[in-house]
Amino acid sequence: MGKFQVLDHPLIQHKLTIIRNKDCGTRSFREVVNEISTLMAYEVSRDMPLKDKEIETPMGKMTAKELSGKKVAIVPILRAGIGMVDGILELIPAAKVGHIGMYRDETTLQPHEYFVKMPSDIDQRQIFIVDPMLATGGSAMMAIEALEKRGADPKNMKFVCLVSAPEGVKALREAQPDVDIYTAALDDHLNEDGYIVPGLGDAGDRLFGTK
Ligand code: PRP
Ligand code: URA
Repeated sequence: MGKFQVLDHPLIQHKLTIIRNKDCGTRSFREVVNEISTLMAYEVSRDMPLKDKEIETPMGKMTAKELSGKKVAIVPILRAGIGMVDGILELIPAAKVGHIGMYRDETTLQPHEYFVKMPSDIDQRQIFIVDPMLATGGSAMMAIEALEKRGADPKNMKFVCLVSAPEGVKALREAQPDVDIYTAALDDHLNEDGYIVPGLGDAGDRLFGTK
């Protein structure tokens, strides 16, 4: 079974409160999502494997450590996932970025895929799927299926979000037990329109100033 972790670092929690506030404007929302994403990337990358490397410091020889695992691909679910990419690239600048375009039908809440563009070696990479919101879990599940179709193994996938609903976490865990889930908050419930309560509203609209 993959991990499920609420990243309760005080800086992450403080910044999450800033963007939850309805008076947080587009500019601050974007900046703070970026900052939270960097902090989350630090926690999400905690289990990356290391190997020994012989080096010479100005004082002499030593056995040091360097990363040894798979290279990383960041896969944002459009639109809102885009807001998390630059923050993660701050820590993992060599990561490749694949995009999955998906929107949720407002009535049925079913996701619809409209665009997929992945690095050619996506099946070889450690994948961070990023989307600020995990609501019903439909978009996350469809994104994982799109990656599986391209040869990626769910064991190499981590789903990273800012706010999740218990309903979405349960659905995603049941459908994809091997995928690790990292969230900054596990909220109370989904309302009848499929929005997370208390949540932060529509992440894409708040990030891009639409609506
Ligand atoms: C939002 C959000 C997730 C999805 C979550 O995107 O960014 O992708 O809803 O809901 P789910 O877990 O019920 O699938 P939306 O469809 O509003 O598209 P947008 O990012 O383009 O605004
Ligand atoms: N998508 C959002 O942007 N917000 C929610 O609360 C649920 C889905």
